Amino acid sequence: MLPAMPGAEAACYHQRMEVLSRQTYLDNAATTYPKPEAVYRAMDHFAREVGGSPGRSGHHRSLEAGREVLRARDAVARLFGIDDPSRIVFTKNATEALNLVIQGVLTSGGHAVITSLEHNSVWRPLEAMARAGTSSYSIVEGGPDGLLDPSLIEEALLPSTRLVVCTHASNVTGSLLPICDIAELCARRGIPLLVDAAQTAGRYVLDPVGTGIQYLAFTGHKELFGPQGTGGLYVAPGWEVEPLLYGGTGSRSESSLQPDFLPDRCESGTLNAMGLAGLRAGVGFVTATGVDEIRRHEGELFERLSSGLLSLRGVTMYGPPDWESRVGLVLFNIKGLTSSEVASRLDAAYGICVRSGLHCSPLAHRTIGTLENGAVRASFSYQNTGEDVDCLLDALSDICRSR
Ligand SMILES: Cc1ncc(COP(=O)(O)O)c(C=O)c1O
Repeated sequence: MLPAMPGAEAACYHQRMEVLSRQTYLDNAATTYPKPEAVYRAMDHFAREVGGSPGRSGHHRSLEAGREVLRARDAVARLFGIDDPSRIVFTKNATEALNLVIQGVLTSGGHAVITSLEHNSVWRPLEAMARAGTSSYSIVEGGPDGLLDPSLIEEALLPSTRLVVCTHASNVTGSLLPICDIAELCARRGIPLLVDAAQTAGRYVLDPVGTGIQYLAFTGHKELFGPQGTGGLYVAPGWEVEPLLYGGTGSRSESSLQPDFLPDRCESGTLNAMGLAGLRAGVGFVTATGVDEIRRHEGELFERLSSGLLSLRGVTMYGPPDWESRVGLVLFNIKGLTSSEVASRLDAAYGICVRSGLHCSPLAHRTIGTLENGAVRASFSYQNTGEDVDCLLDALSDICRSR
């Protein structure tokens, strides 16, 4: 029942409800919404019917919870072409996975090389460690289109370099970075490469083994369609990672020492088993749909949006123009309006969700010259349609006209 409202207020309320019911969600680079139905069902099933703590007690609910976690690990390993699922460590997000490697590899000092397209989840831990005097790092500059010349990474390597970190795709420009070339040059120098696959896992074929990547960080809540609070790290055989957290793992409980095997070494504390049940269903959706099909669909949406934006006066788009060099997000600004004004108007008047500002990646905005105002980002998932793109284009056309 609605509370009694005066006429004008009720009209306003109904108008707002109508906007919300036509909502167009284009903020999938932050987190995907909606999730496939199977994801909601898997979490509901876990919460109501399973409920035990994974890998802890011996009763049937705990055993089934443990099996859910194993199934999630298997599903992620299969998607990434990894034979041994125990090389996948579950974390609560990509940030934790990136910190695990950055802090673990550089605990005893050394130098790291990163790119100017990195997210704060890479830049901030390195900056904190540099300020504490533990380690140092260099930033290799990308171009104004967000692309990167891999030879610049080679030039930045020092005898003390212990780690190279590179995002697979920028969450700001959408540009794909040359991780195959970077993996090759790192291999020649025996330096491990940490790839941040937050924006590519689930929407771009990942082959960490074939590419020769030592560490691959991913998040569960973006294009893998899992819930927030899920993510993980692939650690290549022969490479170690020091834990960020020490504690109960349900294994070797008699010892005061952290287990020396993966994934237990880096999975202290009760896992988010309900979230991982959802992640498994999300990965199942990706696998059943096919990453190639997801990429094809997002490519169509990108072409539709970018050609529409080009026809609007006063719109500037950023990032590489060709689909082959990028993933499904589009960054733009409208002359005379701040990015937050555009995003607020899209939300309030048209029910369209996008993200404005700096997207937790000030380095990337500095690289493309948008650090002061930020920019508006519209980002797709497989769940979006051409109609969503047309809604955004119609709304932007209105906004451009009424500037
Ligand atoms: C490129 C990139 N790296 C890392 C992250 C951090 O992901 P999470 O919030 O899951 O830790 C994001 C999230 O937006 C991202 O886009």
